Amino acid sequence: MTRPVEIFEVGPRDGLQNEPQVIPLAAKLALVDCLSRAGFRRIECASFVSPRWVPQMADSDRVLAGIARAPGVSYAALTANMRGLEAARAAGADEVAIFASASEGFSRANINASIAESLERFAPVAKAAHEAGLPLRGYVSCAVECPFEGAVAPAAAARVADALADLGCYEISLADTIGRARPEAVAAMLEAVLQGLPADRLAGHFHDTAGQALANVEVALDLGLRVFDAAAGGLGGCPYAPGAAGNLATEALAARLADLGYETGLDAAVLAEAADMARALRLRREAT
Ligand code: HMG
Ligand code: MG
Repeated sequence: MTRPVEIFEVGPRDGLQNEPQVIPLAAKLALVDCLSRAGFRRIECASFVSPRWVPQMADSDRVLAGIARAPGVSYAALTANMRGLEAARAAGADEVAIFASASEGFSRANINASIAESLERFAPVAKAAHEAGLPLRGYVSCAVECPFEGAVAPAAAARVADALADLGCYEISLADTIGRARPEAVAAMLEAVLQGLPADRLAGHFHDTAGQALANVEVALDLGLRVFDAAAGGLGGCPYAPGAAGNLATEALAARLADLGYETGLDAAVLAEAADMARALRLRREAT
């Protein structure tokens, strides 16, 4: 009997957005193309947000125009507002994501709005995505820990997850944005969210600052989640979350899932190649 788990690759967006040096377009395209060959079904590779806030993603339209699109792969884009949604559509994103926070402090730092204001801002985005036939995903940032406020109440994460589901998000990704959540706290958050939403509409997005991300994945697996976000080479962090280190490395997650008897359908050799490419981008930064 197969036990499928999907890894949603977010490295070309959540990984690269945090890199301070300009990454050449060709390097981004090569990374996405390699990831496409590795067998992912969804790859987040673009972000239509303010280039003043996140300069690294300013060439997202050119990324979407330049990649070799593999059949059956959905190339996803983060969208901050209506302007971002229109740009994502024009650039040919296959799906879009909106992102709200479970903590007020991070909401303000990341998108310059309260949680309520951000949900209001996303309502027309969700409606337009729906009308355009674009699948809409949602993120709940700081679902467990906030860099400004510390522990986040599970009920706060559940409220925002419900709100994103009400806006029509087909899947809600629950993020430990700063990678400091303990498995017990992740379990408490997931149990609260699961009171309102079924496990098959949820994904786990665990950064790995404290080395707990794999343990957090296992807790989430036990609670029925079967989709996890990760970034090849463990690239990443969030520019507006002080102390946030890399995302969970896709190759480490794929290996752990295989050990646990789950099938991701990924080609480990091609994935290793993508991880090397991603790490080379970081080494390039450290060398300068
Ligand atoms: P603002 O400064 O409050 O509002 O930004 P604004 O409307 O005045 O916009 C500021 C500037 O951005 C203006 O340009 C706008 O024209 C421009 P200026 O007049 O200063 O030259 N602008 C845009 N440009 C291009 N595309 C757009 C766009 N929108 C505005 N779509 C805003 C508000 C939301 C725009 C800003 O705060 C923003 O872009 N924030 C995004 C921050 C971000 O991308 N963070 C990282 C991604 S979230 C994340 O990593 C977490 C996640 O991985 C899950 C997890 O781990 O938690 C998803
Ligand atoms: Mg993230």
